[in-house]
Amino acid sequence: MGKSCELRKISDKRVVWPLIDHTDPKQPNFRLRTITQKDIEAVAELWRASYPEVYGSVHEWILYPDEYKKRVAFAENWEEDSVTRPNAVIVGEDITSKKIVMSSIYTKWDQNLQVEASFIAIHPDYRKGSIAAIIWSNLALFYKWLENSGAEYVTVFCETWHNITQYIWFKRLGWKIAGIFPGNFTRWAGCEKEYRGCTIHFYRFLNNGDKYSTKLEEWDLLPEIRDLFDVMEKINAQSTEEDL
Ligand SMILES: CC(C)(COP(=O)(O)OP(=O)(O)OC[C@H]1O[C@@H](n2cnc3c(N)ncnc32)[C@H](O)[C@@H]1OP(=O)(O)O)[C@@H](O)C(=O)NCCC(=O)NCCS
Repeated sequence: MGKSCELRKISDKRVVWPLIDHTDPKQPNFRLRTITQKDIEAVAELWRASYPEVYGSVHEWILYPDEYKKRVAFAENWEEDSVTRPNAVIVGEDITSKKIVMSSIYTKWDQNLQVEASFIAIHPDYRKGSIAAIIWSNLALFYKWLENSGAEYVTVFCETWHNITQYIWFKRLGWKIAGIFPGNFTRWAGCEKEYRGCTIHFYRFLNNGDKYSTKLEEWDLLPEIRDLFDVMEKINAQSTEEDL
């Protein structure tokens, strides 16, 4: 393998989180910024209100403030945390009320030069309407800022309890479908019950990541899987970048 793409020397691979502090001139009340230690309680509370389905799953740490202290890069300690911490949290703040109205969590794997957009939630009081529109258009900028992080492969998984994030990543951010994963993650169903939810996975290359990726011509695929790939390529040609 590796005949259909460029090869490179294995070097010290590293993703460095970008520090975000951005106020939208069109919506001066809305500030998108990197989490600080003072925000931990409010952010964990936002996840408990907006994404309780992760309770009992591999992702439940986002509900618990103590976990943030070990995993997340904080603005106060940026020089070190931006390199060493596996998770970045970008929050949206309503400047007038000082309330955190949106949170998004990213995960990096340095050796794979990969960033996963792991979670996003808007507080139920701020969904739909103008603030939600501003949140989405500002968040699109994050992927521009990631271009300077060293990442070359960005991924996201979208839950299937609505299709709004599938639409954003496929039609507005231009990401490609990687696959449908039925039963991928356990999710809370209320009380002490759970189910296994289906997630849709998307990807996008940054910084020439595609140059180092093997191509169809050297993949050994079962005929049925080749058929599937052809269909995916046809569908992926319909992905658009309305927000970029
Ligand atoms: C995804 C989200 C950021 C979109 O915000 P928005 O653009 O303002 O849109 P809405 O909140 O109105 O959501 C759109 C639809 O999804 C539904 N929805 C949202 N979260 C849901 C959930 N956890 N379970 C079931 N349905 C949900 C809403 O009820 C709404 O349906 P409706 O149009 O029939 O009323 C926001 O719904 C949210 O924070 N949801 C919870 C967390 C989440 O789902 N994150 C994304 C996972 S991939």
